[in-house]
Formats: sequence, structure tokens, C-alpha cells
Amino acid sequence: MSNVPVLTISDLKASVEGKEIVKGLSLEIKGGEVHAIMGPNGTGKSTLSSALMGHPKYEVTDGTVTLNGEDVLEMAVDERARAGLFLAMQYPSEITGVTNSDFLRSAINARRGEGNEISLIRFIRQMEAKMKELDINPEFAHRYLNEGFSGGEKKRNEILQMMLIEPKIAILDEIDSGLDIDALKIVAAGVNALRSPERAFLIITHYQRLLNYVTPDFVHVMMQGRIVKSGGPELAERLEAEGYDWVKEELGIVDETVGQEV
Ligand SMILES: Nc1ncnc2c1ncn2[C@@H]1O[C@H](COP(=O)(O)OP(=O)(O)O)[C@@H](O)[C@H]1O
Ligand SMILES: [Mg+2]
Repeated sequence: MSNVPVLTISDLKASVEGKEIVKGLSLEIKGGEVHAIMGPNGTGKSTLSSALMGHPKYEVTDGTVTLNGEDVLEMAVDERARAGLFLAMQYPSEITGVTNSDFLRSAINARRGEGNEISLIRFIRQMEAKMKELDINPEFAHRYLNEGFSGGEKKRNEILQMMLIEPKIAILDEIDSGLDIDALKIVAAGVNALRSPERAFLIITHYQRLLNYVTPDFVHVMMQGRIVKSGGPELAERLEAEGYDWVKEELGIVDETVGQEV
């Protein structure tokens, strides 16, 4: 029972450089579920994911986030990782001097905790197996993290991290951007392989195409820093067919972005 994660976000507000971007967002994600947050650019989606992971630039000013009843906002970034939160970033950082395999091993060990580190042999075996699944060139293990990786290679590398870290709640921010159709299918297969009652996904995207391969249980539309509409997979299909204008009209929203108001 306690293995099944529940992430509860209640009335979350978050600011960047003094400007409120996430403006009261509530969402409950249970183990086994796949939620998609869709929305046009500039509606606060990446700010939400950064705030959930504890990025220092993003200040939570109100609301609560709990994982199985534990206060996530009280946790340091590494504690959040250990608790099972994972974020695949929209724009992964390049880190010169740290090889991909060093980074992956540190990330796995951060999740496993002190005294429970993975053995080198086991790590290498797992990393090589997952790299093969994701069709990543083996030499990428020894390259500096994300340095000189193409957009699609960075995204596949984020999924590699996820597969090795085995998080409880995986937040994937625009994981589909920059992927050609073959890479998109590989990424989707990676996500689907990890779907289980012990794990949940929050897939953030503004296109529906990834959701053709990873069927979400719930679809939410984000505008003006909050969720303005929720539904099932059919909502994503309608957004793909008709765009976002009908949602704006329905809700009387003129500008869907955040932060423009005087
Ligand atoms: N690091 C940052 N510094 C300054 N402004 C930011 C930063 N991150 C986000 N913002 C602002 O927050 C708003 C929402 O951005 P973001 O959360 O990236 O939206 P989305 O992911 O939906 O496109 C934008 O107006 C953007 O300029
Ligand atoms: Mg974004």
C-alpha cells in the first residue's frame, strides 16, 4: 500500500524573480496514473515542474505539495530525488567535466541513498542495457553530460536517466520536442515500459503527438498559471484537431500566458 505514490498539489503558487507565474494550481496524481498537462507556450508549465523539483530560482509562495503525505516543499532537492521525484527537463544542462556515466551513477546513488550504492558492475550492465533499448550510441556514456548532444539525443538521455533512476513520480517537460518520429516512438516505449502501479507520470507538452503512443488517464489544460480544464484522452485529441482557441473562448480567456498584466 505505502508503495503506491500519491502526489498532491494544492493551490500552489510560484514566482520567478518576484513575478507570480503559477497562480494556484491543484492536482492529485496517484500511482499507476499518467497525467498530461497541455498548454501553449508561456502558460507556466516549466515553472510548475521546476518549482516541484525545488529549483532555487523558483520560489513557492503559497500552497502545499505532498508525496504520500510528506511535505515535499520542506525537502532539499536531493531529498526530493530520494523520495522518488524525477524531472526530465525541457532544456537539459550541459556539464563539461562530468561524464554521462559518472552523472548517471551519482543520480542513481542519490536516489538509493547512503549505504545502498549500486555496484559498478551492476551499474554498467544496467546502463548498457538501457542505452541499447533507447538506441543511444555506447560512446555517449563517456561523453560530457549533454555536451554536443543534439536536441533528440538530450531527450533520449533524459529518458535513460529516468529508466535507471526508477522514480515514483516522473515529470517529463516537453520530452517530445525535437524528436523525430522514430525517436518519439523509442521514448514512448521507454515510458510505457516503466508504467506500473508504483509509478506515476506527469507529461507536460503542447502537442498531442506523444500522447498517441503514451495514452494518458487524465489531460489538463494549463493557462494563466493554472489548470483551467481537465478531461480524458479525448481532450488531447480535440486540442490536436482544433488547437487551443476554443478553450479560451469557452472560458473567456483573452491572453493565456502569464505575467503580461501591468
Ligand atoms: N528563469 C526565469 N527567469 C525569468 N522569467 C522566467 C523564468 N522562467 C520562466 N519565466 C517566465 O515565466 C513565464 C512562463 O514560462 P514557463 O513556465 O517556461 O512557461 P511554459 O513552460 O508554459 O512555456 C514566462 O513569462 C517566462 O518568461
Ligand atoms: Mg516550458
